[in-house]
Amino acid sequence: MKKLSTLQLVPGMTVAESVLSYDHQLILSKGTVLTDKLITKLDLYGVFTISVEDTESAEPAYPDAAEAVTLPADLSYSERIRLSPTFQQFKKEYELNVESFRGMVNDVVERNVKLDVGVLLRNSLEVIASGKGQIGILDMLQNMREYDDSTFTHCLNVGLIANMFATWLKWSPEDVETVTVCGLLHDIGKLLVPYTIISKPGKLSAEEYAQIKKHPISGYQLLLGQDVNEHVLYSALMHHERCDGTGYPMRLVNKQIDPFAKVIAIADVYDAMTASRVYRGPLCPFRVIEIFEAEGFQKYDVEYLLTFLEHVVNSYIQNRCRLSDGREGTILAVNREKLSRPFVQVGDEYLNLADYDNLTVSDLL
Ligand SMILES: [Fe+2]
Ligand SMILES: [Fe+2]
Repeated sequence: MKKLSTLQLVPGMTVAESVLSYDHQLILSKGTVLTDKLITKLDLYGVFTISVEDTESAEPAYPDAAEAVTLPADLSYSERIRLSPTFQQFKKEYELNVESFRGMVNDVVERNVKLDVGVLLRNSLEVIASGKGQIGILDMLQNMREYDDSTFTHCLNVGLIANMFATWLKWSPEDVETVTVCGLLHDIGKLLVPYTIISKPGKLSAEEYAQIKKHPISGYQLLLGQDVNEHVLYSALMHHERCDGTGYPMRLVNKQIDPFAKVIAIADVYDAMTASRVYRGPLCPFRVIEIFEAEGFQKYDVEYLLTFLEHVVNSYIQNRCRLSDGREGTILAVNREKLSRPFVQVGDEYLNLADYDNLTVSDLL
């Protein structure tokens, strides 16, 4: 048996010890064979490490698995995005921004320098402007990640996703700016957790795990000394709280959670779930939506989550896709009853994917 970080898991591994959530709810039972969906589900519950069987077959076959996903015969949806000039421009801005963000935040954490929120925000808005269309940002963020899960890129991603999300919620321009800052700084407390723990690929002891779970409180305390909006403070403190009371550190329930923190919670978990894994590229958004539909509505603000998912689906209308049975088609319309199963045209046939138990959108083309 060995303990692995969720980033190291690959489908086919067998769970060696049952995985429980923070509130002792069973997430995966011992003996379960991992699938892509189950691995992604662990992010939804904020699980960092699990134990898997130490057998030959459980050894991750990284190169083969990665090749199978990333080297299709013709250009994939991701590859087309990566080759576009807009993406190249976005990438340049993004990389510049991560560096200046890293410098500014390190100054705050290490030398207690006053944070210039205006500059922080302006830099991030420039990244958004370079991405032009809004859903473009989501797609581009997914393609920015080459297994880089550093706290800085994650925070920048969450800031950019939250910015777009708040415009979908029709928040005022000031609130859109505030929620962007909330995203940028939500995990600042993680920078106080020793890097050796954050980046540790293998086993995390109970104490190390407990230290990671302190990051909302340390982030809040750190930001108390800064001139920031109260929603920024609350987002750092409450982004791991869940509406059903199963989150941490204070196990708040729906009404007690700051609305900005609720938006950040969704942007945060979406960023984690769509990230590339060692065995595959970024996850198809429809798979992420399916997981949210199955388990997200008790945990996240229902109204916010519906708005978020509907907009994500909406942005793929008219997009070509591959279905789970291998057929190709065009996404025609959002299915409000079941957002992960849109209406799709395949040849002359019009399919409501919700009518089929096992027919899903498996890739965007
Ligand atoms: Fe966090
Ligand atoms: Fe986060």
